[in-house]
Amino acid sequence: MARIQIPRGTQDILPGAVEQWQYIEAKAREHFRCYNYREIRTPMFEHTELFQRGVGETTDIVEKEMYSVRNPRSEDQLTLRPENTAGVVRSYVENKMYGSPNQPTKLYYIGPMFRHERPQAGRLRQFTQIGAETFGSSDPAIDAEVIAMVFRFFEKMGLKGLRVDLNSVGTREDRARHRSYLLDFLNNVRSELCEDCQSRIDRNPLRVLDCKNEKCKALTKDAPSLLAYLSEESAAHFAAVQRYLTDLGIPFVVDNRLVRGLDYYTLTAFEIKMAEIGAVETLCGGGRYNGLVAELGGDDMPGIGFAFGVERLLLALEKQGIQLPVEEGIDCYLVLQTSEAKAQAFRLLDELRQAGISAEMDYLDRKMKAQLKAADRLSARFTAIIGEAELANGTVVLKEMATGEQREIPAGELVQAIRGH
Ligand code: HAM
Repeated sequence: MARIQIPRGTQDILPGAVEQWQYIEAKAREHFRCYNYREIRTPMFEHTELFQRGVGETTDIVEKEMYSVRNPRSEDQLTLRPENTAGVVRSYVENKMYGSPNQPTKLYYIGPMFRHERPQAGRLRQFTQIGAETFGSSDPAIDAEVIAMVFRFFEKMGLKGLRVDLNSVGTREDRARHRSYLLDFLNNVRSELCEDCQSRIDRNPLRVLDCKNEKCKALTKDAPSLLAYLSEESAAHFAAVQRYLTDLGIPFVVDNRLVRGLDYYTLTAFEIKMAEIGAVETLCGGGRYNGLVAELGGDDMPGIGFAFGVERLLLALEKQGIQLPVEEGIDCYLVLQTSEAKAQAFRLLDELRQAGISAEMDYLDRKMKAQLKAADRLSARFTAIIGEAELANGTVVLKEMATGEQREIPAGELVQAIRGH
């Protein structure tokens, strides 16, 4: 029979690698708790309309990258979530979280997202985001806090040389003011721009500034900057975000061409980058989205958040040669010299595990030497050997592998002896 392979752009995360994932997830939870964030878990699929309205009809994500399904027996048009801001906003509105006495509402999530992209290093079709969203405050200090929270997390993981690119994409009104100037400029160079950009001019001209094509970049180098068209209020907000970041010593550069690939952003937009990880360099993206809650049927509540890809973080760590301090190995391996000792060992094993000590024994009828080898391969901290004499005396020979030190103890004291170390 032909073998079935894993779908393109997806990964199996196997033991040996999964410990790093668990470490990152545990550290993220711990870190976010310090900022008073709580976890939210929303479904992995939502009504397609949520992303059409939330992320935006003319974005690459909605136009080209969504995995949508329709069950033939129902009317529902559903989509595997390509990102989670829209889902969290939906849940925030649906569960009336704006009514909670704890405000602002601070939520984080960890989970898989799905986009039909061309797979390459750091770009997958199923990838894992760790993200956070805050609702209910327009205070620029919250913008800085959100950026600082993820920046400090990357620092905790040991990453160096990170760069925060920061921009303000203004309010809807700011963008409307800027639009005609931008259109004048773009229409002048229209025929020289790539095909994608030509169509973007008509549908979403700001996105032209985000084109990765070198020729388009050069042609739009002097395009009118949105920053010059911000209202006084928007400009003051942006200045305050920068002041707070400077106060905290978070390094950033203002990049007036930073336009994120999702339509919901207002005011602050940011990305955290590291010199080239695989084919991509962006570790994290985020920003403010003050119109989104209302757009999805809620009251006019401000929001801001970010998400980063765990796969990209792992690539970045690898690239910088950073080893996460993950714990591997088991506490104790029971080695049997004679098969008569098996029942006794099996009971001991149960006792150890009940005491929270990780323990293993042989289930393959291996000779003692092979059992010791197996213990070694599992990086067991201790071996407890039960031979004929020990079986008769009700003892075990406990050996600490690191020191080679060994002594005979009553089997009933095994838990204590291991704990005592
Ligand atoms: P995004 O920029 O589309 O933003 O994605 C955020 C991060 O997810 C990226 O910086 C990258 O690390 C990771 N990522 C995205 N696509 C892929 C992929 N195909 N393969 C691997 N990793 C990927 C958002 O998703 C927004 N929801 C972020 C946000 C939250 N804005 C406000 N709140």
